[in-house]
Amino acid sequence: ALPVTVFSGIQPTGSLHLGNYFGAVKLWTEIQNDPTKQLITSVVDMHAITLAWDPKALRANIRRMFIELLACGVDPSKTVLFQQSQVPQHAQLQWIFACLTTMARLDNLPQYKEKSATQSDIPCGLLLYPVLQAADILLYRARLVPVGEDQVHHLQLAQHTARVFNHHHGKLFPSPQRLPSDLPRVKSLREPAKKMSKSEPDTKSRIEVADSPEQIMLKCKRAVTDFPAEITFDPETRPGISNLLLLYKTIRAMEMDAVLEHFRAKDKVALKEELGEAVVELLRPVRENVRHLEGNLEFVERVMEEGAEKARALAADTMRLVENLVGF
Ligand code: ADP
Ligand code: NA
Repeated sequence: ALPVTVFSGIQPTGSLHLGNYFGAVKLWTEIQNDPTKQLITSVVDMHAITLAWDPKALRANIRRMFIELLACGVDPSKTVLFQQSQVPQHAQLQWIFACLTTMARLDNLPQYKEKSATQSDIPCGLLLYPVLQAADILLYRARLVPVGEDQVHHLQLAQHTARVFNHHHGKLFPSPQRLPSDLPRVKSLREPAKKMSKSEPDTKSRIEVADSPEQIMLKCKRAVTDFPAEITFDPETRPGISNLLLLYKTIRAMEMDAVLEHFRAKDKVALKEELGEAVVELLRPVRENVRHLEGNLEFVERVMEEGAEKARALAADTMRLVENLVGF
């Protein structure tokens, strides 16, 4: 049987951090080694321009994202890794999908409501964002999408779009499903109620994959926790310390009971220090890979070109069928 296509994307809006690593990238490296699955991963630069942007920063972030994904183990000989804007079929299919989607449906999506609430002049791209996301997935007729809870509504829109297209124009698109996984949600080190994020201005809120050992140790040391000195795990009432325990557990691949047992007679200072050491160890090879790739930019450029070529070929296959069905 042919491998099942899995589509995933990441915005080039900053460096990869531990949340991206444990919530996405690590899983991608596992999927790429699973012979029953074919992974397609896009650095979604078109999604990164829905709000005001700086072209120089965007271009630097795109290349940085390729470097860091490669450094984390994404293998371009196994995964189709490409820059979204270099595959024009994403925009083409998005237009057709936009014509099959109602304003009311888009206007009702929670993420749009939240993001548009802070804008006085709302760019159309912000409204169309999930339509582009549907095109990203369906262009490769992907069956599985490894997304978190926060993307469920957008995945439902992609499913709806597939249904509408298939109903009016002929059965072409499979209904993409969420890839079930129990990935950890990593919290901000400064405000543990929030998730760790690339777009948070305070860089002490996250550990980036190329941070130096000194930066990592300092960020762990400064991580916000609460008052009781003892170490207990309760994400609801003690999100700060629970986040550190969860990270430690994930890195050491231990059960939470064993982690709590390990820290039973120890305090928060010890937890922060041992977590820091674990992170340094985890990221040492990634940091070395980043350095190596920074000295081999021609290789990185070639990966970007070859990835775009592979993606364009796959996208062209789907678009030929789409054009035929819609009457172009
Ligand atoms: P960011 O908020 O850092 O810009 P993205 O929206 O680009 O992250 O998400 C890229 C991938 O990383 C997605 O699959 C997302 O679910 C995952 N991810 C992002 N932040 C976290 C986090 N704090 N914990 C776990 N997974 C995360
Ligand atoms: Na695979």
